[in-house]
Amino acid sequence: MAQIFHRSANSLARMSILGGVFILVTVGAVLAELQRSPYVTRQHEARVQNPPFSHKHHVGGMGLDCRYCHTSVENSNFAGIPPTKTCMNCHAQIWSTQEMLAPVRESYRTGKPLVWERVHDLPDFVYFDHSIHVSKGVGCQSCHGQVNEMPFMYMEHSLQMEWCLSCHRQPEKYLRPQTVQVDVKEDENHKIVDEGRTEEGNIFSMKYEPPSVQNPVYVKLAGQPTQKFTDQLELGRILRDQYHVRNVADITSCSTCHR
Ligand code: HEC
Ligand code: HEC
Ligand code: HEC
Ligand code: HEC
Ligand code: HEC
Repeated sequence: MAQIFHRSANSLARMSILGGVFILVTVGAVLAELQRSPYVTRQHEARVQNPPFSHKHHVGGMGLDCRYCHTSVENSNFAGIPPTKTCMNCHAQIWSTQEMLAPVRESYRTGKPLVWERVHDLPDFVYFDHSIHVSKGVGCQSCHGQVNEMPFMYMEHSLQMEWCLSCHRQPEKYLRPQTVQVDVKEDENHKIVDEGRTEEGNIFSMKYEPPSVQNPVYVKLAGQPTQKFTDQLELGRILRDQYHVRNVADITSCSTCHR
């Protein structure tokens, strides 16, 4: 039978298949990259809300504890967004005629809740729970950043799978003690002579700093004398055992977050 295609057509066809694959791979890589870009994830994008509520003022300035407003963060998967009544505890008196606060008064009068645009929003196929992170020593700051300096809320981290996994693979890098000892006194041989007093709330604090040589952290573990730590990994490993953090294989298995 006569040859219909010239022999060179073979290599041409091969080349165009290769070319096609190459283009597909490239487009795929670009899309994957785009999907992770801050432009798509809206990481770092400050959200101006109405009313223009500021964590910088209410947390940084006034020193309010997260739990004053996010009341269910310790015992539920959901942190909770405060009802208007919580705002009115203060704003019935403070700035009670300010135009900026008109939506708060309106909401209180009509009983219609304020509408806040969600800043963090995982897809529905991901399971997340605040309470377990809080009870096992992960600070709000580790995930939400320096909230006390945010006039408007933004996402500090992308909340993508790789970010979750980077901590689940090595939680000891981030774990905080639930309580620390302050005003501890040492003698000239660095022996602790006064165990100081216990301070709570590190998980919610925006000022806690992990231990380092410049910033030793004193911790009194159950049934033990106060110990001095100058290295996060050393403290983190001890806390991992204290909190009975499950092993890495368990908490990185797909069914932990996709159930
Ligand atoms: C006086 C009340 C109040 C206090 C105290 C407070 N918040 Fe909030 N928080 C709000 C309100 C109202 C919103 C919704 C408006 C917004 O997103 O800015 C919010 C939103 C947030 C969000 C984003 C929610 C979303 O949509 O994804 C995070 C994260 C958050 N707060 C963390 C904290 C942390 C951490 C602390 C403690 C350091 C804290 N907040 C203290 C009232 C408060
Ligand atoms: C513990 C008291 C207290 C609570 C609770 C409180 N506020 Fe405020 N708020 C203040 C004070 C005080 C100011 C004035 C801040 C300043 O000028 O530094 C203020 C200021 C504001 C402002 C003006 C912008 C700014 O941040 O300076 C808005 C808007 C506001 N609050 C909204 C809210 C909302 C919404 C809630 C409830 C989620 C709330 N506040 C809960 C005390 C409170
Ligand atoms: C391990 C990371 C992590 C820690 C620790 C953490 N959060 Fe969150 N937070 C998230 C994620 C992820 C979301 C989005 C959840 C979703 O979309 O279902 C979120 C959402 C929120 C929201 C919006 C309401 C909600 O529950 O979806 C608030 C408010 C909030 N966090 C406050 C806090 C406070 C206060 C703390 C500290 C007590 C804290 N978070 C600790 C990761 C964390
Ligand atoms: C900074 C560290 C850190 C980050 C970031 C983090 N986690 Fe965790 N997560 C932990 C620790 C610690 C535990 C406790 C493990 C255990 O149960 O002992 C945990 C446990 C969990 C559990 C088990 C809850 C249960 O009830 O079994 C889920 C689900 C989970 N994380 C989801 C997520 C998701 C989704 C993200 C990202 C959006 C995330 N985590 C980000 C540290 C982290
Ligand atoms: C610590 C929590 C966690 C674990 C463990 C986890 N994932 Fe995810 N996964 C997530 C989060 C969070 C997202 C959503 C990311 C986003 O919004 O882009 C996600 C998204 C996905 C997606 C959607 C595509 C994408 O990348 O956005 C797939 C597919 C997926 N995960 C598969 C898996 C498989 C397979 C495993 C086990 C090897 C696994 N995941 C383990 C948290 C987790």
